[in-house]
Amino acid sequence: MKQLGTVKEVLFHQSVWQRVVAAIDMCRQFIHLWVAKVSIFQKKQTIFLFFLSFIRNFACKSIEIKIMTDFKTLAQMRRSHRKFTTQEIDADDVRLILRAALMSPTSKSQRAWQFVVVDDKTDLEKLSDAKEMGGQFIKGAPLAIVVLGDPVQNDCWVEDGSIAAISMQYQAEDLGLGSCWVQMRGRGLSDGTSADTVIRGILDIPENLSVLCVLAFGHKADERQPQNEDKLKWENVHLGKF
Ligand SMILES: Cc1cc2nc3c(=O)[nH]c(=O)nc-3n(C[C@H](O)[C@H](O)[C@H](O)COP(=O)(O)O)c2cc1C
Repeated sequence: MKQLGTVKEVLFHQSVWQRVVAAIDMCRQFIHLWVAKVSIFQKKQTIFLFFLSFIRNFACKSIEIKIMTDFKTLAQMRRSHRKFTTQEIDADDVRLILRAALMSPTSKSQRAWQFVVVDDKTDLEKLSDAKEMGGQFIKGAPLAIVVLGDPVQNDCWVEDGSIAAISMQYQAEDLGLGSCWVQMRGRGLSDGTSADTVIRGILDIPENLSVLCVLAFGHKADERQPQNEDKLKWENVHLGKF
């Protein structure tokens, strides 16, 4: 979420280690000023600053979690993003994104999907050229996740992979990151080479697996409006019978 991302980055984005260091520093200053011969006004000021630091370091964390659990907002804010900054994605965030995929529902609980995490610049560039159009922006992303399935072992490999993919996209959005799905299944180059064949060659994918899509992830560098509530296709929803 853009708004949340900004607030998080500016005000609250501190690692646990940074929070501990800040808390120790405030304690040190507090003790130092308290024992020093300073006016009661300065002592009150110190207590106030200590209180502010506490809010910033600890209380804000729970506010952040509360805002981020609002799925109604998340669904509206998620848009496809195709322009990214050069900033790397935090390893913890990558793990959370993959966690969402691994927790997603699958037919017969097979969990037969496979994911390849790509952050090598050369490989990202090669993935951009796996199909004729619509995937060029992958090379501008710091991270791509390739979603794979086994069509022989799993008759629902497309569905399972799709659910895993959108789960990752929502998790990314929740972290304030941008993402976009790049379709690879059934796509290819103008000479007839399938995207599947190209990607297989780049990433050493085993013969039994097929490529569903590539998801590009990164810190957003483009502005997207939230979904327009007034333009939702409610006419496509049929109550009771079609
Ligand atoms: C199955 C599927 C395939 C897609 N393939 C591509 C693609 O190859 N390239 C691309 O730029 N976007 C692709 N997208 C993203 C759509 O273009 C995007 O979701 C759509 O324009 C709606 O915009 P929004 O995601 O911002 O709501 C794909 C999305 C889906 C669900």
